[in-house]
Order: sequence, then structure tokens, then C-alpha cells
Amino acid sequence: MELTRPDTQAARFAFLSPAAVVIAGMSRDQRNELSAKEPATGVEWDSYFDLRWRILRKPWNQPHGSERDSLEDKSFHLMIQAAAVTLAVGRLHLNSPEEAQVRYMAVDPAHQGSGLGRKILQALENRARSQGVKRIVLNSRANAVGFYARQGYETIGPGETLFGEIQHTKMCKDPTPPSVDKKSG
Ligand SMILES: CC(C)(COP(=O)(O)OP(=O)(O)OC[C@H]1O[C@@H](n2cnc3c(N)ncnc32)[C@H](O)[C@@H]1OP(=O)(O)O)[C@@H](O)C(=O)NCCC(=O)NCCS
Repeated sequence: MELTRPDTQAARFAFLSPAAVVIAGMSRDQRNELSAKEPATGVEWDSYFDLRWRILRKPWNQPHGSERDSLEDKSFHLMIQAAAVTLAVGRLHLNSPEEAQVRYMAVDPAHQGSGLGRKILQALENRARSQGVKRIVLNSRANAVGFYARQGYETIGPGETLFGEIQHTKMCKDPTPPSVDKKSG
């Protein structure tokens, strides 16, 4: 049997995920302009939770629904989309008036390492700052500790082990920008 080469763009893209197709069609400037927003429509919410599930639950054979917890209604949710494809998500909730927690950070594999995780995290931190919290905490998977450390989070101790194998590290950050700290003495 003779194999035909996939010469057209459409044929090449048929082998890629929707998110990879989106990024392949974007310029660097267009990528830099992507910004975080709150999911608004039913379709956006479905897509938001689907990315969470695909990145944070599916690889461990966890069912749909396992990507949600009892705090969704009280939390602040952000997503980055391009051409209606969800590329990155993250969530912030309050543990107390003084403490906010970041959870469920996930970036589509085709886009990891292109600044989207940082954009989501910084926008969640801005939200925490606007609520006047004194600290932001999170439980980082081992693979993400370097990412959070780069954003100013410090390790405060070991965290839970999820699904019997994913070890977490507890991390913490003072959301007050250092320059403001210095000015206020
Ligand atoms: C962890 C994750 C959210 C980071 O998002 P990302 O979009 O890939 O990261 P960014 O491109 O925004 O990286 C921002 C900076 O952190 C660095 N960085 C990213 N991931 C890193 C890692 N795992 N270790 C060390 N540094 C990392 C980047 O090099 C970049 O550095 P720069 O400031 O020099 O440019 C994303 O990779 C992801 O979804 N991973 C899989 C799911 C996961 O582990 N989620 C976290 C659960 S706690």
C-alpha cells in the first residue's frame, strides 16, 4: 500500500490537539496578548473543568467529577482561551479573611512553558491582594515546585500525597509587593 504524505496544513493539523492547532496559527504577539478571564457561559465552564480533569485527574484514571470540590461556588476561577479553546486554568479560594489558597493550576501540554501559567497565577494573586489577604498558600506537585518558587513562593513543609503517589509540597507567599513593604516601613 502506498502511503501519501500529509502535505496540506489541514492534514498536518489533523494529528494535533485543538490547543496545539490554535498555537500553531498564532504569532508571538498574539500569544503575548492572551489574558485571563472568568468563565462565563456554560460552554466556557465545561471547557474550564475539562482542562482541569484532563491535566490533573485523567492521567491517574480518575473519573469526571473528581476534578471538582465543594468550594467551587465560593471560589474565583480564571481561564485563558484562544479561538474558544481553553489553554490554561486556575482557581483561588479563601481559607480565612487572612489566607487565600491557589488550587487546580493547569496548562495544556502544548502550551506549557509559554508564560500562561504565570499569567493565571499573577491574576489570581492580584485578586487575593484586592481582598486584603496576608498570605497565599498552595500545595504544589513535585513537578511544579520550581514554577512556584520562580513566582516567589517559599516551601513551608511537606503536603499530602494524592492518589497514593503524587507528593505535594506546602508553599506560601506574602502577596504584598516588596516595594510597598519597604515604603510602609
Ligand atoms: C506547572 C504549570 C501550571 C506551569 O505553567 P506554565 O505555563 O508551564 O509555566 P510558565 O511558562 O508560565 O513559566 C513561568 C516561569 O516558570 C518557569 N517554570 C515553569 N515550569 C517550571 C518547572 N516545572 N520548574 C521550574 N521552573 C518552571 C518557566 O521557565 C518560566 O520561567 P521564566 O520566568 O524564566 O520565563 C504547568 O506546567 C502545568 O499545568 N503543569 C502540569 C499540571 C501541574 O503540575 N499543575 C500544578 C499542580 S500543583
